Amino acid sequence: MENNIEHKVVVITGASSGIGEATAVMLAERGAKVVLGARGLNRLEALARRIVGAGGEVAYAQTDVRRREDLTSLVKLALDRYSQLDVLISNAGIGPISPLDDLRVEDWENMIDINIKGVLYGIAAALPVFRKQAFSHFVNTASTAGIVVNPNMAVYAGTKFAVRAISEGLRQEAGDKLRVTIISPGFVRTGFTESMTSPEMKVKIRDSMDKMGISPDAIARAIVFAIEQPAGVDVNEIIVRPTAQT
Ligand SMILES: NC(=O)c1ccc[n+]([C@@H]2O[C@H](COP(=O)([O-])OP(=O)(O)OC[C@H]3O[C@@H](n4cnc5c(N)ncnc54)[C@H](OP(=O)(O)O)[C@@H]3O)[C@@H](O)[C@H]2O)c1
Repeated sequence: MENNIEHKVVVITGASSGIGEATAVMLAERGAKVVLGARGLNRLEALARRIVGAGGEVAYAQTDVRRREDLTSLVKLALDRYSQLDVLISNAGIGPISPLDDLRVEDWENMIDINIKGVLYGIAAALPVFRKQAFSHFVNTASTAGIVVNPNMAVYAGTKFAVRAISEGLRQEAGDKLRVTIISPGFVRTGFTESMTSPEMKVKIRDSMDKMGISPDAIARAIVFAIEQPAGVDVNEIIVRPTAQT
C-alpha cells in the first residue's frame, strides 16, 4: 500500500543499535530506502542483511559523526545511490554521565563532539541538499534530559538542551519546504549504558532501564509518525517516556 514513507530516502546516524536500529527496520518495512551510518561496521552489515532479507532497500557506510567529512560522505552515498535525500535522522549519541566533581573531562568533550557537533555536521551536510528540493526533513534525537536537568547529568543535559535549541532555531529559519522534528525519549532499553565510564552510574542507569525502560520500537513509531505526515504538516517535538518515569 502506498504511504508517505514509501520511496523516501532516509539517512540515519547511530543506526547500528538501539533506537537507530529499530527506526531503520521500521522505516524499511514501510518502504523507505534507508542509508545507515555508525562506527561499528560489522553491526551495520548485519543490520543491512536483515533489512535486505525482509525485502527492504538499504545502503550503509562507516560513519563517525565527530568527523564532518563522514557526514558529507553519508549524505553523498544517499544521493549517489538513490538520487535524493528526504530525511536525515541525527540519532547518534552517547551519555557517559557522572557528577561534575569526577572531572571526567574526556567524557564531557566526547558528549559535546558527538551529541552537539555531530548534529551540526549533519545539518551542514544535508541543508544545502535540502534547499534544492521541494521536500525535506530533519529529525534530531534529544532526550527528556534536554527538558529537565537532574544531578549527574549536567553535561549530557547540556548537550540535549543544545540539540533542542539548535533544532528550534533551524525550524524558525526553515521556510515552507523543510520540516524539523525533535524526538525526546525517556528511558529506553538500548545499549546506551555501554558508553558510561563511571561504574556507579552504569549500574544505576542500567537498573532504571531494566525496571522501566521502554522498547526502542516505541521511539521508532514516534519517528515514523512524524515522517508519514503530509508534506505541509510539521510535527515539531515528540516526548516519549515510560509511564513509570517521573
Ligand atoms: N536509551 C535511552 O534511554 C535514551 C534516552 C534519551 C535519549 N536517548 C538518545 O537516543 C539516541 C540513541 O541512543 P540509544 O539509546 O539507541 O543508544 P545506543 O544503543 O548506544 O545507540 C547509540 C548509537 O550511536 C552510535 N554512535 C555512538 N557514537 C558515535 C559516533 N561517534 N559516530 C557515529 N555513531 C555513533 C552507536 O554506534 P557505534 O558505536 O557503532 O558508532 C549506536 O548506533 C542517542 O542520541 C541518545 O542520547 C537515549
